[in-house]
Amino acid sequence: MASAQQLIGMIRSHAAGDDDRFLSIAEEIAGEAGRAGRSKVAADLTALVAGLRADGRGTRRGSDLTSLAAPRGELANLLRAAYSETVLSDLVLSQALGHRLGRLVREHRERDKLEEHGLAPRRKFLFSGPPGTGKTMTASAIAGELNLPLFTIMLDGVITKYMGETAAKLRLIFDAMHRTRGVYFFDEVDALATRRGNDNDIGEARRVLNSFLQFLDEDRSSSVIVAATNHQSLLDPALFRRFHATFAYEKPSSSEARRVLGNHLLQFDTASLDWGRLDEATRGLSHADLTAAADDAARDAVLDFDGRLETGLLLRALCDRSEQDATG
Ligand SMILES: Nc1ncnc2c1ncn2[C@@H]1O[C@H](COP(=O)(O)OP(=O)(O)OP(=O)(O)O)[C@@H](O)[C@H]1O
Ligand SMILES: [Mg+2]
Repeated sequence: MASAQQLIGMIRSHAAGDDDRFLSIAEEIAGEAGRAGRSKVAADLTALVAGLRADGRGTRRGSDLTSLAAPRGELANLLRAAYSETVLSDLVLSQALGHRLGRLVREHRERDKLEEHGLAPRRKFLFSGPPGTGKTMTASAIAGELNLPLFTIMLDGVITKYMGETAAKLRLIFDAMHRTRGVYFFDEVDALATRRGNDNDIGEARRVLNSFLQFLDEDRSSSVIVAATNHQSLLDPALFRRFHATFAYEKPSSSEARRVLGNHLLQFDTASLDWGRLDEATRGLSHADLTAAADDAARDAVLDFDGRLETGLLLRALCDRSEQDATG
């Protein structure tokens, strides 16, 4: 039979609209029933879950990429393509940031309406902020929300030491944006666009920056271009004008940190945790750190504490992450 923990987990995941988690717990129960010799229950449950999964429940979308969108030839070394199942509500963001991102998605969903009035949705965005705060995840969520393929630019393939080659590769990417509508994600864009006039910044680096600026300027595609950086201050000031909007990411506030942890500990009874003590331990950690600490604590709870998650366990996982940040 399902344990109380599993039931609570299912009700929580149902409330959170998390079909995947809901079905995963059902699968877990089916597995346990099978091992306990209740093969009829196991078979019925497994068939139910399989039916729902086949209906697309629990997988917002398959990750198969249509051959139309899959980059070929030289582009295959420059772009990594994927479909995304992420949506904006998967992210924990400040209200203001969440609102602005929601607006951006809406402009694309309702672009026909805008176009009737001679307007166009904004398409070129810069995300800046510390590591692990959701920049890459947002690019993926925009793709997921708009049902567009996500093309991540592989800068290793783009930046070569041969004169002129980088500009030629950038041109291929910007041509692809025109041909195939998608979300094109330039992660660590500082590698392409550091300030002009830096130490060794003569010749090639400057040419790369200039061609990137020019391609951004000339781009009239309907694709969404997202650039991300941890080092906004390194970027050339000329870059900013090329974006329609910039978004600053920050480490989570304590109430946001609680939400990140809560979202990752749905199968546990988190209401009884001592959140006052936990708040202190979350300070300074990124969303990614919190996610990882929640997963660490969940594993410990399952393996060593019979599925019980206590405050001390989570505190220890959070402290371990803080220490790793400090030393790493
Ligand atoms: N705002 C957020 N809300 C919920 N989870 C988040 C958030 N930010 C990060 N995470 C978690 O951390 C993981 C890593 O985040 P992500 O790759 O988006 O960070 P990033 O800002 O792109 O970092 P980097 O600057 O190092 O590239 C995500 O896959 C997710 O699990
Ligand atoms: Mg990233």
